[in-house]
Amino acid sequence: MIILVAVDRKGAIGKDNGLLYRVPEDLKNFKALTTGNVVVMGRKTLESFPGGKPLPNRLNVVLSSRYENTAGYENLLVARSALELFTLLEEHGKDKKVFLCGGESIYKAFCGACDGAIITEIDSETPDADAFFPALSREDGWQLEETSEWETSVSGLRYRFVTLKKEV
Ligand SMILES: NC(=O)c1ccc[n+]([C@@H]2O[C@H](COP(=O)([O-])OP(=O)(O)OC[C@H]3O[C@@H](n4cnc5c(N)ncnc54)[C@H](OP(=O)(O)O)[C@@H]3O)[C@@H](O)[C@H]2O)c1
Repeated sequence: MIILVAVDRKGAIGKDNGLLYRVPEDLKNFKALTTGNVVVMGRKTLESFPGGKPLPNRLNVVLSSRYENTAGYENLLVARSALELFTLLEEHGKDKKVFLCGGESIYKAFCGACDGAIITEIDSETPDADAFFPALSREDGWQLEETSEWETSVSGLRYRFVTLKKEV
C-alpha cells in the first residue's frame, strides 16, 4: 500500500474536514496515479468529496464503523476494521495499486502497513489547520527515494513531489 498525501511546511493536511490548498497539478497527479486502482480512506475524507461521492473510475474503500452505502455506489466498499480492510484488499486489490489517501486517523493507523509514500510538499502554512500527517521516520525504515524540483502551481503555490520507500 502506498501513501498519497499533500502536506504543508508544518505537516498540516486539512482544516474543517477540507483540504488546505488548491494545487491543480497535485490533483492531476492524484487522478493519474489512482484511476483504475484502489483508494483507501476514512469516512470523513469520503464525506469531504463533492456530494460525499466516491471518486470515479477507481475502487474506493472507506473505513467506518457506521457508514452505509445506501446510495449503492458500485465502486465503494466499506471496511469496519483493519482486519476487514486487509481482507477486502486481498480480494479486490490483487492486480492493482492500493493508495492510502487519508485523512489523519487513517494515515496514523495504517502508515505502518505501507511500503511507499508519494508526498506532495506545499511550500506554505496555515495557522489554524486541524489535521496533520504523522512523520515517517528513518527508525521505522523509511528512506528517501526521490525529490522533484520545486514547481510553481497555476495557483501560485510552490510544490514538489517527494517519494519514500520502506523495507518491509
Ligand atoms: N492533504 C491530504 O492529502 C489529505 C488527504 C485526505 C484527507 N485530508 C484531510 O484530512 C482531514 C480528515 O481526517 P480525519 O482524521 O478527521 O478523518 P478520516 O481519517 O478521513 O476519517 C475518520 C473516520 O474513519 C473511520 N475510521 C478510522 N479508523 C478506522 C478503523 N480502524 N476502523 C474503522 N473505521 C475507522 C472512522 O469513521 P466512523 O466515525 O464512521 O466510524 C473515523 O471517524 C480532512 O481535513 C481532509 O480534508 C487531507
